[in-house]
Amino acid sequence: MAYTNITLHKEGAVAILTVNRPKALNALDDLTFDEIATAIGEVGADNEARVLLVTGSGEKAFVAGADIPSLRALESAFDGAALSRKGQEVFDLVERLEKPVIAAINGFALGGGCEFALACDIRIAADTAKLGFPEINLGLIPGYGGTQRLPRLVGVSVAKRLLFTGDMVDAATALKIGLVDEVVGAGELMEKAKNLADILSQKAPLALRLAKRAVNEGLESDLDRAQILEASLFGIACGSEDRVEGTSAFLEKRKPSFKGR
Ligand code: CAA
Repeated sequence: MAYTNITLHKEGAVAILTVNRPKALNALDDLTFDEIATAIGEVGADNEARVLLVTGSGEKAFVAGADIPSLRALESAFDGAALSRKGQEVFDLVERLEKPVIAAINGFALGGGCEFALACDIRIAADTAKLGFPEINLGLIPGYGGTQRLPRLVGVSVAKRLLFTGDMVDAATALKIGLVDEVVGAGELMEKAKNLADILSQKAPLALRLAKRAVNEGLESDLDRAQILEASLFGIACGSEDRVEGTSAFLEKRKPSFKGR
């Protein structure tokens, strides 16, 4: 599939999606969202792609947010709501992809860009990255899931402060508040992110998928229901060939060879 505003390629079992609108600091316009959605479908259908890594092109930005000219051109509240729903639906596809998704945050991750990172499973940032939600300065609020995913990740009070002030935080602060999981030197970001992706690509794919579902769906439920869900997903894992292989490999003191079945 040929893309205009993103690139998608594979390195071994790792698919790498790069948002590629450097002149607009990789801002998310309509076409970019369409292409991200198509790419997620492509990666989901590719049995050889075990992990997805997302990043931004150039050294300056991961993604600097929603495309501001498109926001200025909105003609009605309905247009605004539709734009918001579309972004939410695309980031839901990212969150629900049945493979781990790692965000390699190589620069500005603002507004919609930070919301993209929030929909990923793991966030690694370059030490030069800056993150934040400047929507308030545009007379707006985040519309791609940010008001909901941010407090779930960093807590209500820290989230409100970020949303109300619109202030950017540096990578070290993002790590301290739990907005990112790891900070690395800018020059080694992709290497570190690929190393983690390689490690995950060797884990049992079915168990990874079930672990992701257990966390994502369980968090939206009360503990009793979430544990019933966990037991069901655990049962599915027990029915897999990978469970036989993983437990046998341990007892036979050898490396497991998982098949995703
Ligand atoms: N949309 C479209 N274009 C953007 C953009 C965006 N979000 N962010 C930056 N650009 C463009 C600039 O207009 C500029 O284009 P020109 O060269 O044609 O003028 C180019 O990218 C480079 O940007 P700057 O000259 O501004 O670069 P800088 O280094 O001085 O500043 C920055 C960098 C601090 C990231 C600044 O560009 C900025 O503040 N960008 C906007 C960030 C923002 O407000 N994001 C939130 C958008 S709203 C949103 O995301 C809503 C939602 O959830 C639905």
